[in-house]
Amino acid sequence: MKINLLITGGLGYIGSFTAKNIFARNKKKTYIVDNLSRGNSFAKKYSNSKILNVSEKKTQDFIKNKKINTILHLAALTCVRESIYNKDKYYKSFKSQKKFIKLLKKTDVRYFIFSSSLSVFEGSKIKKNLSPYSNYKLRMEKYLKKISSKNFKVIVIRYPNIIGSDPSGKLGEKNNFISRIVPFFYKNILAKKKNLLFYDFKKRKFPQRSYMHVDDISKINIDVINNFKRFNKNFYIFNVSNRKQYSNFQVLKELSKLMNVNPNYEIKQISKKESITQIYKSGDDISKYIDYKPKYLNLKKILKTNLKWFKKIY
Ligand SMILES: NC(=O)c1ccc[n+]([C@@H]2O[C@H](COP(=O)([O-])OP(=O)(O)OC[C@H]3O[C@@H](n4cnc5c(N)ncnc54)[C@H](O)[C@@H]3O)[C@@H](O)[C@H]2O)c1
Repeated sequence: MKINLLITGGLGYIGSFTAKNIFARNKKKTYIVDNLSRGNSFAKKYSNSKILNVSEKKTQDFIKNKKINTILHLAALTCVRESIYNKDKYYKSFKSQKKFIKLLKKTDVRYFIFSSSLSVFEGSKIKKNLSPYSNYKLRMEKYLKKISSKNFKVIVIRYPNIIGSDPSGKLGEKNNFISRIVPFFYKNILAKKKNLLFYDFKKRKFPQRSYMHVDDISKINIDVINNFKRFNKNFYIFNVSNRKQYSNFQVLKELSKLMNVNPNYEIKQISKKESITQIYKSGDDISKYIDYKPKYLNLKKILKTNLKWFKKIY
């Protein structure tokens, strides 16, 4: 079967890199559906994009008309902290994604890749007191497992924290609605403001995360799509990460060094719904199925790729 792909949320951060890299590999413009609630128009030039909500009937019609058989589903609201303060918004996003998936029954879609998150973990276990964001990711995973079949194969990829830009300065993250860690620190450093670092006073620890470059995760997405035939089971879950974890403090320290300033910060108790550590059981090993060689392993190297992009947009 020849893959005919749709990326939902393809005008967002990860989607735009995935579309760009597909275009770079085979000069093919990928189909994208995005409601631009959070994304940007940067990726339009690498794609055939439609501005639609995933749950609209028009999206289903688009999928039918274009004979889409494979979906990389990235469309979602994506911030753990925002979800704690804005539960309803995240519930609506969850509901609209479920509706979208239900509508796929009437289409030719056979392969479905779902972007989940390592934020479901605390240590080696699923976190007990989950944020709404992580809770909905888990509920989507369970729902997809239930409906997966030999005619609707599902691959769940739990992403780590995705950071970085194209080192050329041509593409990167721009989100006017939420503050992700690296742009947040960068803007504060520019404005000579103190950075807020979340910290667990009881455990005396800064939260640790695995950080992966957006280019590397986009290549994992593409390799999974291109190698779908190797995945024999109807349902898989992969935890994907860079092996080394870094604290928010280390991120600030490295970024400050790159910007030739001393780290300037204050600390605040982290919410119980956010994990302190993201160490997890390995699960299925994705490198058995795809040739997975990340280009960016080291935090400093990843952060450096942001500098040209950030200079351009901030
Ligand atoms: N960025 C990370 O660090 C990270 C980590 C773990 C998992 N993820 C997951 O990866 C996916 C992509 O994340 P991202 O960082 O590119 O986020 P993003 O916000 O940049 O992109 C998401 C895109 O989805 C679109 N969208 C949202 N709701 C929609 C809807 N109902 N219909 C149509 N379009 C809609 C937005 O406009 C946006 O362009 C998300 O599902 C996110 O939860 C991201």
